[in-house]
Amino acid sequence: MIEVKNVSKEYQTKKRIGLFKNKKTTKKASNNISLQVKRGQIIGVLGENGAGKTTLIKMMTTLLLPDTGEILIEGKNINQDLKTTRRRINMISGGERNLYWRLSAMENLLYFGSLYGLTKREILRRAEILLKEIGLWEERNTPVEQFSKGMKQRLQIIKGLINEPEYLFLDEPTLGLDVEISQELRKAIKNIARKQNTGILLTTHYMAEAEELCDYIYIIDKGAVILEGDKEEVFKALDLEKEVIVILQRKEKLPLREFRKLFPDFTTENKDEQTILKIQSKTPDLQQIIKVLNQLNLSASEIKVNNPTLEMALITAKRRNRGIK
Ligand SMILES: Nc1ncnc2c1ncn2[C@@H]1O[C@H](COP(=O)(O)OP(=O)(O)OP(=O)(O)O)[C@@H](O)[C@H]1O
Ligand SMILES: [Mg+2]
Repeated sequence: MIEVKNVSKEYQTKKRIGLFKNKKTTKKASNNISLQVKRGQIIGVLGENGAGKTTLIKMMTTLLLPDTGEILIEGKNINQDLKTTRRRINMISGGERNLYWRLSAMENLLYFGSLYGLTKREILRRAEILLKEIGLWEERNTPVEQFSKGMKQRLQIIKGLINEPEYLFLDEPTLGLDVEISQELRKAIKNIARKQNTGILLTTHYMAEAEELCDYIYIIDKGAVILEGDKEEVFKALDLEKEVIVILQRKEKLPLREFRKLFPDFTTENKDEQTILKIQSKTPDLQQIIKVLNQLNLSASEIKVNNPTLEMALITAKRRNRGIK
């Protein structure tokens, strides 16, 4: 298990004011964060731009030192023996920055593998398995600059797995990828966690992706964890409402006043020949809604219930944390 215990981190920055004057400012990027990643589990760290996700990953991968607090891997401080820690972890970030474009796929892997202290033989053996598994074996000698975005991303995955990490950090791994490649990648991520018992920490701005992948979620805002739990726990903690959507044929005028009496929280929207009635409620009673529609002589062509989403959860958690209604 990797354990982050009460970690805080501030960046010092200099702001130019005037021609020769600098003003020092500090930015708290992590504020007393505690979290855990267990092997075989996919942990999601969610939060808006600048919330502190990448900073946290940099500290967990020994690229940045915490100001206070500590990070432990199987009970030992990760910064105590850097060489051992780095052999046990790896990181993949979205975008294409982290490969050498003029080198071939195999040359990239030989280089990055050597950073983990692997021998050439070990790298070649491991690279062959991974390149074949992820479908890049035929392209192993092609310079990366000739790769498509999806191929580069696949190579990133291989690079992330070259040292058989026990823990893998994924910073927006599907950023800018098309639907099909993202889906492929999500499948690969699940497989890595389940089959290789790798502990994965994932950040993403795609909430559907987090919903699909994450066993446990930490929502962070302004560097602090403001909510954690599995999906159900997060929804429960926020007490989010469900939304009932009723599609009515737009023939007659709707008795809005009647509606208001019956459903305290609803909106209507006209679209083409239809009226869409949306009713918000924590415990929607479909029977009652149908009964009311019948009483008012309205016939619905479709009724569906939308459960709360992580997107709503993230927005709601942040607003409540900042005291916005
Ligand atoms: N090297 C740095 N020097 C100064 N400030 C920094 C530095 N890196 C990040 N910050 C600041 O720290 C805060 C957290 O940044 P971080 O990159 O961790 O956020 P993030 O959650 O990864 O955001 P995003 O979703 O946009 O990637 C931000 O306010 C950012 O401006
Ligand atoms: Mg980031």
